[in-house]
Amino acid sequence: MNTLTQMVATALSLGLILIDSTAAQESKVMLKEGSGKDKAMQCAACHSLDYIQMNSPFLNKAGWSASVAKMINVFGAPIPNEDAEIIVNYLVQYYGKSTDK
Ligand code: HEC
Repeated sequence: MNTLTQMVATALSLGLILIDSTAAQESKVMLKEGSGKDKAMQCAACHSLDYIQMNSPFLNKAGWSASVAKMINVFGAPIPNEDAEIIVNYLVQYYGKSTDK
């Protein structure tokens, strides 16, 4: 019985830790809702998504294409070509430099 109680207590505390980390993630940068967002989440594999927000005022379509290409070619982001295109379109629509879409 004692062991069981301990196991339950351990499970509960693990559960609490998991809940905590979920809450912490929710307070981090989230991408805008829109088609392609699910693909763009791949960009969070190496760095925070605020890289996208920070660059939003500067990058037009050419800029985002180059940026995504750089992530893949230079930094080795494991993003398939067809996803890269969807991501660029998403970024241009939701995070593109407003004067030049
Ligand atoms: C394989 C890891 C990896 C993935 C996946 C990745 N990046 Fe990056 N990214 C980096 C590295 C490394 C840097 C530069 C070093 C740093 O400042 O952290 C960077 C920097 C950036 C920057 C800052 C400007 C620059 O060019 O240095 C932007 C914007 C950016 N990434 C956007 C993206 C987007 C959009 C995606 C999804 C298509 C993405 N990243 C996916 C590794 C990655």
